[in-house]
Amino acid sequence: QIKLVVADTLSAAKAVAQIIADQVKVKPNAVLGLPTGSTPIPVYEELVKMYQAGLIDFEQVRTFNLDEYVGLKPDHPESYAAFMAKHLFSKINIPTCQTHLLDGLTPNPESECKAYEDRLVKEGGMDLLFLGIGENGHLGFNEPFSQVGEGTRMVMLTVETRLANSRFFSAIDQVPTHALTMGLRTILSSKSIVLLAIGKKKAKAIKMCLEGEIKDEWPCSVLKGHEDVLVVCDGDAASGM
Ligand code: F6R
Repeated sequence: QIKLVVADTLSAAKAVAQIIADQVKVKPNAVLGLPTGSTPIPVYEELVKMYQAGLIDFEQVRTFNLDEYVGLKPDHPESYAAFMAKHLFSKINIPTCQTHLLDGLTPNPESECKAYEDRLVKEGGMDLLFLGIGENGHLGFNEPFSQVGEGTRMVMLTVETRLANSRFFSAIDQVPTHALTMGLRTILSSKSIVLLAIGKKKAKAIKMCLEGEIKDEWPCSVLKGHEDVLVVCDGDAASGM
């Protein structure tokens, strides 16, 4: 059952931050799944403000990021490890050992991905997964035609995704061709999911997420099969419905 909330851009980000804060209040050692990208930045800013105001405590929280580029060192400014350190982890009181990211430099992606899944299970699975969404409907780096039964693994990025992400790099050929990502099965294993979408470029993906059947071309459509999903959009992202 997917619920939809439409709000202005800043209120949408604040609403998602509040949902995360509420989860941590109910369960101080909650396991959170986290995205990178442009969309979560105002959410992380809001969480940092809440932390500074003493409204949220990350001491016992555990986090698992959705994905990481293959081939970037953790200190490469566009690695997702660097992104998380910059926007959230360095600004709150979460112990580094409780933050988990896939290792994009692993010599053995298969065992790295299996170890990540095992660790997630050992920690009790995700209580709340915060997602962004790609223009092509990808979740994490599960590109179109990903399968619902797939777990964490190495994937090849589509040209569209590399083009969309080239805004962060000096040129498209600097954007990694592969990534490690939680699979759709991993995503659906979270007890609850909140997805944030901002901007007109996301309108088609949001429509496919909320309306119609589950389709392989639109990985986001698998969320229809989950019982606790909240989609938070601005008016532009909701404008396709
Ligand atoms: C990033 C991730 C991706 C992004 C998506 C949207 O960890 O999992 O699926 O959520 O590409 O990115 P933005 O927010 O930059 O539009």
